[in-house]
Parts: sequence; structure tokens; C-alpha cells
Amino acid sequence: MALVSPSILAADFANLSAEIDKIKDADFIHVDVMDGVFVPNITFGTPIMEALNKLDTPPLDVHLMIDNPSQYIEKFANLGASILAVHIEAERHLHRLVDRIKSLDVEAFVAVNPHTPVSALEEIIQFVDGVLIMTVNPGFTGQSFIPETAQKIAKLDHLRKEKGLNFRIAVDGGINLKNAQTVVDYGADILIMGAAIFRSENPAEVIQKVKELKK
Ligand code: DX5
Ligand code: ZN
Repeated sequence: MALVSPSILAADFANLSAEIDKIKDADFIHVDVMDGVFVPNITFGTPIMEALNKLDTPPLDVHLMIDNPSQYIEKFANLGASILAVHIEAERHLHRLVDRIKSLDVEAFVAVNPHTPVSALEEIIQFVDGVLIMTVNPGFTGQSFIPETAQKIAKLDHLRKEKGLNFRIAVDGGINLKNAQTVVDYGADILIMGAAIFRSENPAEVIQKVKELKK
């Protein structure tokens, strides 16, 4: 069974509560925080967490696409993040940051851009709860999956087995019902999906189909 995390970046913010209602059976909600510095787009920050806290939502999976993420960890943890993903490319002291996230009882995920090799994770993966593999260049919803990134999922899954670790593998960007089984076959556990869920006719059905995917 695969886990699914709809990205609210693709939702209609004018109807946030109705949009959340459509995805109530999802395993997480993916919250894409962008600062216009680490990525060429600005989205939202803690106010969206406050809004989500007023609704009945699945656990919040927060993806920080920001420079200097360590400055904001406590804020997002206090607002109920159940996963915090920080980019390896944005943090000099990743080991310390991963430790701090875990000490707040939040799952620590490390995110990697398409150009970052899996080998760059070798000395950190034993400490993390998960790795988020970007399958597009971060910044926008609705982009096309970069097929070459699938190899990284397989490599990471191999490394996980070889080292006897049990961190989770999340994939993010351009995931849809056409490529979902492929990424699951490669070893992905959590499928983050924006446009494929919120811009579909029947988000609940897409979620159900992803959850039923077999490894
Ligand atoms: C991209 C974000 C993704 C994005 C996913 O920078 O990190 O989470 O919102 O959206 P889709 O599935 O539409 O590519
Ligand atoms: Zn994301």
C-alpha cells in the first residue's frame, strides 16, 4: 500500500475548506512553503498552518523550500507539522537540524533537488525518518515528472536495504496515476501529488487508487 499526500498548492484557496473535505481520506496534506529565494516562487508560510489547524485535516507534511530553514523549525512544529522536510541544498548543518526536528517529535525528512545525487545522502540517511526526492525542479505545481529521477528512488531503496534502515521515501513533482505504480515499484512509500489530485474531477477516487497500489 502506498501513502498519499495531496499538495494544497494545487488547491483552490478561495474554497480551502471544501478542498480539504475532498481529500479527507489522504494520509497527509503536503504544505509547500516557498520563499522566493531558495526557489523562484513565493507561496505561503505559517498562516496557512493556522488556517489548516481550524479544519479537520490529515496530518500535515511540511516541505520547506526556503533558505535558512533552521530559523523556522519550532514555529512549524508548534503549528502541528507531523513531517518537516528540509533541503540538503539549503542547510549547512543538516545533522544538527535533523536532530532538532526529531527532538520536537516531528519526523525529519531531507529533500533533494533533481541534480543532487543520492550519494550526497550517505552520511545523513541513518539519522533521518525520510527522504523526499524531488521529481521536478521545485517551485511550481503542475510540472512534468523528470523520468531520470526515478533511478534515484531505486538507488535510495537499494541503500536502505543494504544498510538495514527503515526511513521512508517520498516522491514529489509531476506524480500522477500514469507514473504512480512505477515510482512505487522503484521503492517510493509516500506519493505527493498536487495537480493530479486537486485538478482532477474526482480527487477522492485518485486518492483511493493510489492507496491501493501494491509494492
Ligand atoms: C514543487 C512542490 C510540489 C508540487 C507538487 O515545488 O514541492 O509539492 O506542489 O505538485 P504537482 O504534483 O502538481 O507537481
Ligand atoms: Zn513539495
